[in-house]
Amino acid sequence: MKKITRKLVALAAVAFPLLAANQEPSLRHEANRLGLLVGAAVEPAHFSEPEYASTLGREFNMIEPENAMKWTATEPARGRFDFAPGDKVVEFAEAHRMKVRGHNLLWGSYNPAWLSSRLTSSALREIMHQHIARVAAHYAGRVFAWDVVNETFDAQARLRHSLWYDQPGIGLAGQGTAYIEQAFRWAREADRKALLFYNDYDAEGLGPKSDAIYAMVKDFKRRGVPIDGVGLQMHVLKGAPPDPTSVDANITRLARLGVEVHITEMDVALPTGAGGRVLDPAALGRQAEIYRNIAGVCARNPGCTAFQTWGFTDKYSWIPYFTHFKMGGGLLFDADYRPKPSYDGVLKAFETVKQPPARQSR
Ligand code: G3I
Repeated sequence: MKKITRKLVALAAVAFPLLAANQEPSLRHEANRLGLLVGAAVEPAHFSEPEYASTLGREFNMIEPENAMKWTATEPARGRFDFAPGDKVVEFAEAHRMKVRGHNLLWGSYNPAWLSSRLTSSALREIMHQHIARVAAHYAGRVFAWDVVNETFDAQARLRHSLWYDQPGIGLAGQGTAYIEQAFRWAREADRKALLFYNDYDAEGLGPKSDAIYAMVKDFKRRGVPIDGVGLQMHVLKGAPPDPTSVDANITRLARLGVEVHITEMDVALPTGAGGRVLDPAALGRQAEIYRNIAGVCARNPGCTAFQTWGFTDKYSWIPYFTHFKMGGGLLFDADYRPKPSYDGVLKAFETVKQPPARQSR
């Protein structure tokens, strides 16, 4: 489609989002048929870009703030809350009849400088309680699911040392997942309805890290700790992608505990050169296969209720910055919003599921 035509279509789609959402086969159309959420992480600063907005409205029924609801954005200074960036994500979603996943209420990394380990445990406990209570209450009824706690296990399946666990922690240092449990309990107090997720990476297939997460979820469910789901991030950055059969088995065993599984942050990084150009065009085909396999597992497994990528256009991805511009091209649309083979891989994975499974969602 010529660029000018695409822009006219994009402008029309922004003006008439409902029309865009139904006018042609799309990920959203197929996901709706499958009873599946299909999402993308977003930055509200880009909503004013017509093709950014129209592609989102046409292709996705769920969005998640990449950074706009993190601690640095929502509580940049102690006790000073700023919900404006996150509210823009919710407003966009409501205008396009989308759901919003919240991300995240507690993480040991990328916190604002004022959250320092010089604070006492009792101060940190009060700070953590107030943050979770205020942010979850502000978005109650507008965010349907939260990543309550993000990335607390390391590659050896041990609890990471962190401000919240034991440096100095909130008075539960050395007591394993007790501080994680406390975060979930405070989140449930603040929002009686939202689905509460634990979210992590490199734990998609069966292995020591996913075993540790499984054991935590099993313990939490046994003791009535409020947890409703596990987010499998699915960042394919280096090395072999997760084995689809192993991912399927992990989703199935988690679902048997009574929690949902969301694929929360998928991208498949490729080696890039100047200007973010993918160095080996054949790699785009391999990338499409990886996306098709994982999207197929999620579409077929009743325990998987959402499939989300971390961004949707290669124009705005964290990967180049994180890899000093050696990798990129990880998403479904290129920098000009043209669908890539990876997009076709996901769409084909959805289309081939003729009998959608009955998905378990609270
Ligand atoms: O917006 C500021 C800008 O004003 C400033 O000039 C610039 C330089 O300091 O920083 C900009 O903020 C950056 C932000 O991304 C927006 O681009 C932060 O420094 C940077 O730390 C932040 O990185 C994000 C990272 O999480 C840490 O929060 C990435 O965008 C985001 O993609 C990444 O996402 C994480 C998930 O939350 C959890 N799972 C892993 C995933 C990838 O790392």
